[in-house]
Amino acid sequence: MASNYDNSAGFYDGLSRIVSGKALVNAQVYLLPFIPERAKILIVGGGTGWILEEIAKVHPSGLNITYVEISAKMTALSRKRTTGNNAVAFINDAIENVSLGADYDVVITPFLFDNFTEETLPGLFGHIHSSLKPQGLWLCTDYQVTGKLWQKPLLKMMYWFFKILCGIDTTTLPDIEAQFSKYGYKKKSAKTFFADFIISAQYQKS
Ligand SMILES: C[S@@+](CC[C@H](N)C(=O)[O-])C[C@H]1O[C@@H](n2cnc3c(N)ncnc32)[C@H](O)[C@@H]1O
Repeated sequence: MASNYDNSAGFYDGLSRIVSGKALVNAQVYLLPFIPERAKILIVGGGTGWILEEIAKVHPSGLNITYVEISAKMTALSRKRTTGNNAVAFINDAIENVSLGADYDVVITPFLFDNFTEETLPGLFGHIHSSLKPQGLWLCTDYQVTGKLWQKPLLKMMYWFFKILCGIDTTTLPDIEAQFSKYGYKKKSAKTFFADFIISAQYQKS
């Protein structure tokens, strides 16, 4: 894919909080207590890496984290994060290019899928799916359109902004839920944020 968040790495966190306040953070933090102790975790598209510090507040040690981020600048910022005594392996590459084991207990995809289209999401989803153990947990946060009149225009504005800044070539949200259904995931819990525009869900692989 052509997107490159390097152009926004220095101000991405500040910018995203102007639009959605703390909702973006709260939505991801909501999922962290579901992480079991000593879990092997795959994080894809963690951005500046603030989530690593939030994870360390819940689990200060014992986790084995693989952190895959396509943007070099985002990865560099993530490396500076305080990660407690958790082991973190940083991989600066597109997840599609990374050969993964099939033994992850937990996968985290925070606002990753909104960068993909109906055409590109299935391949990416299948690749990440194959890394998760049977019964493993997939913690996913992303936007959703629930019918409120302002949601579509706001989404369009965000896509337009990131197209100019980062070359994101996506213009509409792909059907994320359909992918979880296709692979037989069970939704164990979910919570919405920012007046339903953001959804965080915990899925379990069969
Ligand atoms: C919308 S940002 C979200 C960042 C962060 N999760 C947050 O909530 O602040 C999406 C992130 O996914 C990364 N990304 C996009 N496509 C990717 C891919 N194919 N493989 C790995 N990372 C990717 C981008 O570089 C960017 O940092």
